[in-house]
Amino acid sequence: MNSTQAGTAPIVLMEGVRKAFRGQDVLRGVDLEVAAGETYTILGGSGSGKSVCLKHMIGLLEADAGTIRVDGRDVTHLSESAWVPVRHDFGMVFQGAALFDSLSILENVAYPLREHRRWPEDRVRARVAECLEAVGLAGIEAMLPAELSGGMRKRVGVARAIALEPRIILYDEPTTGLDPANSRRIGVLIRSLQQRLGVTSLVVTHDLELCFAVSDRIGLLRDGRIAVEGDGQAIRESTDPAMQSFLGGDEPLPAATAG
Ligand SMILES: Nc1ncnc2c1ncn2[C@@H]1O[C@H](COP(=O)(O)OP(=O)(O)OP(=O)(O)O)[C@@H](O)[C@H]1O
Ligand SMILES: [Mg+2]
Repeated sequence: MNSTQAGTAPIVLMEGVRKAFRGQDVLRGVDLEVAAGETYTILGGSGSGKSVCLKHMIGLLEADAGTIRVDGRDVTHLSESAWVPVRHDFGMVFQGAALFDSLSILENVAYPLREHRRWPEDRVRARVAECLEAVGLAGIEAMLPAELSGGMRKRVGVARAIALEPRIILYDEPTTGLDPANSRRIGVLIRSLQQRLGVTSLVVTHDLELCFAVSDRIGLLRDGRIAVEGDGQAIRESTDPAMQSFLGGDEPLPAATAG
């Protein structure tokens, strides 16, 4: 069985990371440590910089200041070519399913394998079958993305993300647009990949049910920093004003009016 125990050194570390776009500060000193095998969720309002955070971890954005380490290695200012092997550690489930609409599910999931492995066709197909099986979608290789429901497309996105056996999976809003049953299925999938493969997961979401179902630790991104951090219980019980306001505790929903 794979260990899911937290290791000693963090596998992903951000220290004092700052990022501005056209003079507008988005990250103002993000400190974040994720242990190997851990599932860490970044909560935060729309536009708070959650996706920007994830993009720094895989070198799609470069920090203005601060340090980012992956498995102990300083990756803050790596060149594009030096990022390539580091990115092999990561699987990314992008916000939106981000499948290639004109390609079959087989070709979508095989895409990273064809880019990064010189495998014979039968090995590629076997790995694709394994990944689809892992997300509960065995046998749909010949279908096109347009033929799938939103929940199935998200799971195909996960199958593609795990194709190269990454050690770290980044999930950006994996349940947005899904109904409760499909959202729950994604949560079960995130947990089972952690337990079976020992992967480290970083999840970005506004979905509190998902957050509490999968997370070992949770951080609230607010005003460009991780303002509150803790395990599920600590977050649920937090009286921190930033968390209260994110959870909407200070603003009761207006009652629906008949009409
Ligand atoms: N490449 C970019 N160029 C300019 N501005 C950007 C870029 N990427 C992000 N931003 C800005 O940074 C801010 C944070 O964006 P980000 O996508 O991280 O938000 P988010 O927390 O993921 O929001 P959501 O929950 O809506 O996905 C936004 O104001 C956005 O416009
Ligand atoms: Mg986002």
